[in-house]
Amino acid sequence: MKRPTVWIPRRLSDATLERAQADYDCIINWEDGLSSADDLIAMSAKVDAVIPCHSEHFSAEVAAQLDSRLKIIANHSVGVDHCDLPALKARGIAVTNTPDVLSDATAEIAMLLMLGAARRAVEGDALVRSGNWKVWSPSFMVGKQVTGARIGIIGMGRVGRAFAEKARGFGMDIHYYNRSRLDPDLEQGATYHDSIDSVLAVSDFLSLHCPATPETTGLMNADRFALLPDGAVMVNTARGALVDEAALIDALDSGKLAGAGLDCFVTEPGGNPRLSAYQNVFMLPHIGSATVSTRDAMGFRALNNLDAFFAGQTPGDLL
Ligand code: DGY
Repeated sequence: MKRPTVWIPRRLSDATLERAQADYDCIINWEDGLSSADDLIAMSAKVDAVIPCHSEHFSAEVAAQLDSRLKIIANHSVGVDHCDLPALKARGIAVTNTPDVLSDATAEIAMLLMLGAARRAVEGDALVRSGNWKVWSPSFMVGKQVTGARIGIIGMGRVGRAFAEKARGFGMDIHYYNRSRLDPDLEQGATYHDSIDSVLAVSDFLSLHCPATPETTGLMNADRFALLPDGAVMVNTARGALVDEAALIDALDSGKLAGAGLDCFVTEPGGNPRLSAYQNVFMLPHIGSATVSTRDAMGFRALNNLDAFFAGQTPGDLL
C-alpha cells in the first residue's frame, strides 16, 4: 500500500523528522518559513496529512478551500486556536493536538517569568551588562517576594496543575478558577473559586493557563485588572489573545501591576513594541515548550496520532 504523504511546514526536531521520514513520504519545509493561507490551501492538494504548529492558521476561510485529499491535521501544539475546529470538522478533516507532553516545560517558563518579573530580572541584567553598576544599597532593586505569596491560577488543566506543583515548592498559597472544580487529589489543597473575578481579588501573583477561545479573548481587560490587589504580578504563558494589551499597559502605568511576565502576545511573531519601554515586564518569544526533550515528545505525540489515524484507529488526541 502506498505510504501517506505528510507535509511538515516547520522545522521540527531531528528525532521527529527522522521518524516521520521513516514512516511516511514527507514534504518538509527545511527553510522553516511561515506559510500563507494560499500555501496551506495549495499544499492540501498534495498531501494526506499535515503536522503544523500554532503558526499555521487554518481559519474557516482556509478550511473551506482545503482540498479533499487532506484528511488529518496532526498539530504539533496543545493549543488549537489557530484551527477553526467546527469548520474543519464540517470538511471531514480530523484534528489532533499534543497535550500533556509540554506541561512541565511551559510551567517552568511560567515560573521563570514570575520570578523574573517579581525580582526585577530585566532591570538587573541590563544594569550589570551595561557596566553602569556602580553602587549597592539595601534599598536597591528591592522586589516582590514569591515564596509564601498568594497565587491565582486561571485554568487548572494540565499546564495549570504543573505550574501549581512548582508553585507549591515555593510555599505559595494557591487559588484557582477552572470551569469545574477539580477532584481533591488534583486540587491538592488549592482553594477553588467559582468565578474569575473572585480569584483575581486574591491574586498577588496571577498566572494564565486557559486556552484562547471566543469566550476567553480579552479575559484580562481593564475591569479585570482593576480587581487585582495593588502591586500584583501577572504571568501569561497561554495565549496573547487572553490579554487586552492596552489595558495591561494602563495597569503597569497606574502601578496596579508591579510587573508582568509574558511569553505570549497578541501579535506573534513580533510582540508589542509598547511593552519594551517597561523594565518591569519580563518577555520571552513564545518559548514555553522549547526544550529538546519536549520538542521530541511533541513531535512523537503528533506522529502517534498520525499512525493511529492511518491504521484506521481513533487517534488518542482527536479533538
Ligand atoms: C502550544 O503547544 O500550544 C504551544 O504554545 C506551542 O505551540
